[in-house]
Amino acid sequence: MVSLTIPGERDALITPAQQGHSSVHVQIRHLNKRYPGQAQDALKAIDLQVKRGEIFGIIGRSGAGKSTLIRCLNRLENPTQGSVVIDGIDLGQLSARELVEWRRRTGMIFQHFNLLSAKTVRENIELPLKVAGVPAPQRRQKVDELLALVGLEERQHAWPAQLSGGQKQRVGIARALVHDPELLLCDEATSALDPETTRSILALLKKINQQRHITIVLITHEMDVVHHLCHQVAVIDQGEIIERGPVWQVYSDPKQETTRQLLNPQFGTLPEALQTLLSPTRQRQDSRVLGWVVNLFRSIPFLILMVALIPFTRWIVGTTYGVWAAVVPLTLAATPFFARIAEVSLREVDKGLTEAAQAMGFHRWHIVWHVLLPEARPGIVSGFTITLVTMINASAMAGAIGAGGLGDLAYRYGYQRFDMQVMLTVIVVLVALVTVLQFCGDRLSRRLNHR
Ligand SMILES: Nc1ncnc2c1ncn2[C@@H]1O[C@H](COP(=O)(O)OP(=O)(O)O)[C@@H](O)[C@H]1O
Ligand SMILES: [Mg+2]
Repeated sequence: MVSLTIPGERDALITPAQQGHSSVHVQIRHLNKRYPGQAQDALKAIDLQVKRGEIFGIIGRSGAGKSTLIRCLNRLENPTQGSVVIDGIDLGQLSARELVEWRRRTGMIFQHFNLLSAKTVRENIELPLKVAGVPAPQRRQKVDELLALVGLEERQHAWPAQLSGGQKQRVGIARALVHDPELLLCDEATSALDPETTRSILALLKKINQQRHITIVLITHEMDVVHHLCHQVAVIDQGEIIERGPVWQVYSDPKQETTRQLLNPQFGTLPEALQTLLSPTRQRQDSRVLGWVVNLFRSIPFLILMVALIPFTRWIVGTTYGVWAAVVPLTLAATPFFARIAEVSLREVDKGLTEAAQAMGFHRWHIVWHVLLPEARPGIVSGFTITLVTMINASAMAGAIGAGGLGDLAYRYGYQRFDMQVMLTVIVVLVALVTVLQFCGDRLSRRLNHR
């Protein structure tokens, strides 16, 4: 008997995984994850297989464990038990250094894009290449190629804040592809976008999958995303995979009540604000190194004070008495204040940015230098201005009680000698100095702030 197939139709039903690339790309075995201090497992005995070239969707409600699962695929999260083997490599066996190298071969995109606000579109895409030591001409060529792929050549010199959500995610996608990864992880990549933009991003992901043969694992709570894009789907509920199979099968004949509820179009349209409320907040920050530096910085004045303030002052300004001599202890006294402001600015940098940098294979010092410091720079400049102004005010106050400085001038030569002209001049100079400093500081901080 001869079986008849219509070529076009048949091809449409065949997943890339079946088109001769059917090797297993991602193998998850008996994966368990329990967060420290939690009574429940976030993931329970997950077994999954993703074939090379496939688009694999993982769908579930908020809090089901989707992010935890996808984050185990590049070890942003370490499993409590079980293994993740990608391309034959057991991620659990990689050393910290090997992991950084390995992460460069896996792209990741995020719901809130996690672009660096202090870098332009082009610079955002280029940075992972720079960090990996790729020479400038190759970097330029790669960035041009990716800008063309995502259709953003015209906007390459814009700041992220000047882009629409869809454009931001295009930058995120280009950035995730700089090292020609074979695997792309998408964590709710379209959940912050409107339906039309979502469709265009999904079309882009499909194009990338087909042209570049990249395996895509994506997690979402949106049924439409899976429907439009994925070949296979797994439904996750309370940390367990409750249903899996080809998309058409799971959609046409859902076996589980949770899957049926997810298929209800009402669910996908849960307002973003509510989604955010439902989803867990994560307090993760890789600023321990900076914490140490800041604390050291903070204690410097006291160390110096204890050991050698007077010889230190003499060494710096040649004298230990008078206006110039006062600058040294004042500066030292101001450092803890400034260090505290700098610390707060660094802590305020969006956690997503450090996480994205980790996912792109940045070492810790790369994260500090290329992410934390540039992003915190406007805050640090503002803090420096406040410190400077406070110091001037403090020195003027100190002068009034005989410690030199502008206050001393006003008090001894103005007030005590009834010379109003000296007093007024000092006040005007003080106000002008503070105003100019504040103005310049504010301007610089605004110029550096591209958020
Ligand atoms: N860092 C964390 N510490 C403790 N619990 C966490 C952490 N991250 C997630 N969880 C918990 O793990 C479960 C799964 O979370 P998550 O993977 O973020 O779900 P989803 O992405 O499906 O919304 C939730 O119950 C959440 O509260
Ligand atoms: Mg999530």
